[in-house]
Amino acid sequence: MKSNPGLIEKSIKNGLPNPVLDDLDSFFIKDSTESTNDNAKNYLKVQKTLFSVHLAEQQTSGRGRNKKKWVSPHCKNIYLSLGWKSKLLHSQLEGLSLAVATCLISSLKKFSSQDIQIKWPNDLLINKKKISGILIETSDSKEGLDIVIGIGINVHMDESEGVEIDQDWGNLEENPLNRLDRNEIISAIISELYDLFKEYPQSGFKKYHQAFEASNLLKDKHCKVEMEKQTYEGKVLGVNEMGELLVEKNGEIHHLRYGEVSIREL
Ligand code: BTN
Repeated sequence: MKSNPGLIEKSIKNGLPNPVLDDLDSFFIKDSTESTNDNAKNYLKVQKTLFSVHLAEQQTSGRGRNKKKWVSPHCKNIYLSLGWKSKLLHSQLEGLSLAVATCLISSLKKFSSQDIQIKWPNDLLINKKKISGILIETSDSKEGLDIVIGIGINVHMDESEGVEIDQDWGNLEENPLNRLDRNEIISAIISELYDLFKEYPQSGFKKYHQAFEASNLLKDKHCKVEMEKQTYEGKVLGVNEMGELLVEKNGEIHHLRYGEVSIREL
């Protein structure tokens, strides 16, 4: 079995094209930290150029969406947060997490022979098991909108390390005999998200729409929708150019917005 190399700044930077390195403000790898999203958020207060990179081998308070814990064992997975000094308006945030999920699929494709799909809004799954999640957090600054894009990817996690996870989960790596190098995966993700930093402010989610639909796990599926005050069943038609999920129920089309709802296939 190949050994599992640790995170190495030089290896990751070697995989980044020069324009990406020119716009990179700072790069941090910690052995252990509470949450790389918190590190990125704090650093944005002093960040000068477009983006910064925050990685850790382990998180002691890794956070997921909906106040859930993100299980983050040592040296097994990827815990990556990018601090982005953006000029986006709040109104442009709607499709961002879906666009990020689409970029993540593009960068992970070459590391897996299996189909990776997106469960709206932004979970990545292989064979219906979650392998990755995205947590985006924003704050206003004098210059614009500071954005933290936090990405967790299960790569080599053992069954025993994931026992606390309350849903089906999997690893990006299919074959433990052929250990994936997390450094290479991280370079691919940073390069792809750099393109998003450059393009998303002009294009919005529109540019990513088609690619999202191609990997949309729920498309054409009969699903159960759970909102605060109501629950119903309907058929998912797809997403629109704002990133809303379109669900048909008795001939009516409902527009579901990220954060307001949970949905699962029946
Ligand atoms: C989800 O609930 O699906 C989102 C999970 C996001 C986890 C990542 S790991 C790196 C970054 N730091 C955190 O504390 N959370 C995000």
